[in-house]
Amino acid sequence: MTQLLRFDPSSAFIPKTGLGASDVAGLGPTLEKLRDEICDVDVKMMAGALPTPAEKQPLDAAFYLMPERLLAAYETQRAASELGRILAATKAMMAEVDRVVVLGIGGSYMGAKALMDGCCQPYFNELSRGERGSRPRIYFEGNNVDNDASQGLLHLLGAQRGHVASGVEDSWGIVVISKSGGTLETASAFRQYLAALEVSCGGDMEKVRRRLIPVTGDSGKLHSFASELGCPEIFPVPDGVGGRFSVLSAVGLVPAALMGINVMKLLEGAKAMNEHFRTTPAGQNIVLQYTAVNHLMEVQRGATIRLLSVWSKALESAGMWYDQLLAESLGKDLKGATPLTTVNTRDLHSRHQQHQEGRRDKIVNNVIVERYRFDPLPIGARSSDPDSLNDLAAKTLPDVMAAAIAGTNQALRDDGRPSTNLYMPRVDEHCLGQYFQMLMLATVVEGRLLGINPYGQPGVEAYKKNMNRALGR
Ligand code: PA5
Repeated sequence: MTQLLRFDPSSAFIPKTGLGASDVAGLGPTLEKLRDEICDVDVKMMAGALPTPAEKQPLDAAFYLMPERLLAAYETQRAASELGRILAATKAMMAEVDRVVVLGIGGSYMGAKALMDGCCQPYFNELSRGERGSRPRIYFEGNNVDNDASQGLLHLLGAQRGHVASGVEDSWGIVVISKSGGTLETASAFRQYLAALEVSCGGDMEKVRRRLIPVTGDSGKLHSFASELGCPEIFPVPDGVGGRFSVLSAVGLVPAALMGINVMKLLEGAKAMNEHFRTTPAGQNIVLQYTAVNHLMEVQRGATIRLLSVWSKALESAGMWYDQLLAESLGKDLKGATPLTTVNTRDLHSRHQQHQEGRRDKIVNNVIVERYRFDPLPIGARSSDPDSLNDLAAKTLPDVMAAAIAGTNQALRDDGRPSTNLYMPRVDEHCLGQYFQMLMLATVVEGRLLGINPYGQPGVEAYKKNMNRALGR
């Protein structure tokens, strides 16, 4: 049986500096009303059955039912469905290449990175093709305009030597992702990497087309460019799905399928979270509880810094994904908490001093993994005990991790510093699907509580305008 994530807010219930359980419970009816609006009214507005009022525009709420929609279409149409086509296109690419460069930025990149770090074995790209199950190595570019990083990868691909690939081992491909199709970072990288791919394919455009998968909106320059190139498949970023809400669309699913990630399980996890969100009363609803605690800590206790403290390296990029989601969705109208991801125990040795004794402007949300990919690794004994660790010889890394979590939470609590625990049974497709959906839903509910439209990112336009002007455009 698949397990749901669990959320325990009890360590946020602290007199004076934290919350009272009754504060959270008191918000329940408001939260349920907002939930019902998201599940009903917003869905009708998206379908055009109700008009969308100005304060809700843009309304990019199609992410909510996307898992159900994609799974249902696969159930009835199989190979002809979007999922069926994604599986076929990625399988074909996988058979031809040993490396894939995923080009994209922001919401067109961070979800795929979170999936790779979460679901693929650590050091995946370093494994042999056999150990990778014939999945290609995955690289991310087009998420910056960093001259050296981009050329470093081109160098690795043999592009700067004009290398023409002769077999699977030295062949590579591109997945280019941009909803608008006009983002400068991704568009310029696509131009450069496409030129390199043409060389790698010895100018054989049929080969180039087989090694290129675009994911983009229905209109826009990338769509027309890909059509002009004759790409056999162009996967959609559906209308009504914003970039940072798109991880469970082709934006995340195409790279995920290439990595060998079970995309059905990912979507089923998200679907399970939707079901929980829709049907569970506020007091037991983890989306609404998470929102309530974090919202109340911000508005009642000035916790404007929101930590996502992940106790697994596999979740660092999932934390960065949430950084973007929260920052771009709620950082508007002088409101919105500032996100910060910490990876522990690593960051106990860098940031924790401030979190333990600095300003009381933070809430710590722990994400705790309950089962690991590999068997627990004991510290081990050594006959001379030079490092005085023999007393811990039988303890494993998960034992030490559990002690660090308990110790850190206790230390925070002893100083009246609120925290919460989100328990993830394991880092896998089903749990990550739940995690993404939970936090996307929570962000929308929180936006509504703050009186902010969580969709759109008008504040990102100013820098783009200035940058284009500086480039003489
Ligand atoms: O959340 C968002 O909408 C943004 O972060 C976008 O994903 C990002 O700007 C990239 O846009 P695009 O996919 O159009 O290239």
